[in-house]
Amino acid sequence: MLGPLIFLVAERLSLVDARSDWTYPWKYDSMFFEGQDYWGVHSEWAMCSRGKLQSPIDINPSLLLHDPSLKPINIDRISVHSEMVNTGQMPRVRIGNSARRPTANLTGGPLNTYRYRIQRIDIHFGVTGQSNGSEHAIDGRKFPMELQLLAFNADLYANFSQASRSTHGIAAIAVLVEFGPETNAELLRLTVAALSVQFKNQRVDLVDLSPWKLLPRTRDYVTYEGSITAPPCDETVQWIVLNQPIHITHNDYAEWSRLSQNSPKEDAMPIAPNFRSLVAPNHRTVRTNIAHISEEDKFTCDTSRITYKVFTTHNQKLT
Ligand SMILES: *[C@@H]1O[C@H](CO)[C@@H](O)[C@H](O)[C@H]1NC(C)=O
Ligand SMILES: *[C@@H]1O[C@H](CO)[C@@H](O)[C@H](O)[C@H]1NC(C)=O
Ligand SMILES: *[C@@H]1O[C@H](CO)[C@@H](O)[C@H](O)[C@H]1NC(C)=O
Repeated sequence: MLGPLIFLVAERLSLVDARSDWTYPWKYDSMFFEGQDYWGVHSEWAMCSRGKLQSPIDINPSLLLHDPSLKPINIDRISVHSEMVNTGQMPRVRIGNSARRPTANLTGGPLNTYRYRIQRIDIHFGVTGQSNGSEHAIDGRKFPMELQLLAFNADLYANFSQASRSTHGIAAIAVLVEFGPETNAELLRLTVAALSVQFKNQRVDLVDLSPWKLLPRTRDYVTYEGSITAPPCDETVQWIVLNQPIHITHNDYAEWSRLSQNSPKEDAMPIAPNFRSLVAPNHRTVRTNIAHISEEDKFTCDTSRITYKVFTTHNQKLT
C-alpha cells in the first residue's frame, strides 16, 4: 500500500554510483560470519578492524572542545528527487542529481570552504521496544534511531565512491531520533515509504523529499573525524552530530521493524537492529560550536517546546 505522498515516476534517477561497487556480503549480527566482528577479515576492509579513527563513538560531553571558529552548517533548503531502497542491511535513501533536479549541498561548519553534495540518507534503528538503535551515543546513552545524511566533496571528487576513499571526501550529518508525541513530518514520509521496501532490493521513488526538514532546529553541533560505519570503513568522514533530536512516535517506530534482510522467497530476517557497535575514540578531539552553557541557563531554557539539548557542556575553551 502506497501512501499518497509516493509516486512512481517515469524519469529514472541519475544515481551515479553505489550500485556498481562490488562488495562481499555483510551483516550487522556477529552470530554470522558476515557480521560486524568479521568485516575486517577481508583485506579490502581491513580498516574496519585496524583503523584507529573509526565510527560510531560515544561522545563524552565533558571532553568537548569549544572551537569559536566553527561556522554554522548550511544545507540547501530545496526538495530533491530520491528513492528508498532496502539494501538488505538498511533502508537507504538515494538522492538523484541532474541539471534539472540538482541535489542539495552542504557547506559551512567544519567543512572549510568545500561544497559537499548530499548523496544518500542511511537509516539505523533498533528492535521495537528497545531504544538503542542509534549508532552514536551521547554520554553513554543511545537513541532509538539515527538518520545519517552522507555527502561527498564535489569540489575535489567526481562521485561518492571516489570521495569515500580520499582525503576530505565525505561529510556526514548524524540526526538522532528520540521518542515523542509526534513524528517529524519528513521522517513520517520515510516511514510510509519504508512499508513499500519490506524486502531486499525493493525500491520506491520518493518525489520532493526535503532533506533539510529532517534536521532539528538547532545550530549547535559537535564534530569529529571518523569513518563510514559500514564496510569498507574508510576513515574519510567529517562527522557532524546535531545537538537536538527529532522525534518519532512509538507506533511509527514499530513500522520499521517490518523490514527484512531477505527477499520474499527466503525466510524473513529482520533488519533491526542495524547499528554498528561503538568503537574506541582513541583520544580523538571532538569539537563543538556550543559555547559554555551555565547551570543557570540550563534551567531557564524554554521547556514548552520539545527541544531539549542532547549535550550540556562543560567545555574547555580553545585558546
Ligand atoms: C567515480 O569517479 C572515478 C574517477 O573519475 C571513476 O574512475 C569511477 O568510474 C567513478 N565511479 C562510478 C561508480 O561512477
Ligand atoms: C550543488 O552544487 C553543485 C556543484 O557542485 C551545483 O551544480 C548544484 O546546482 C548545487 N545545488 C544547489 C541546489 O544549488
Ligand atoms: C539494546 O537494549 C536492550 C535493552 O533494552 C538490550 O537487551 C540489548 O542487548 C541491547 N542491544 C544491543 C545490541 O546492545
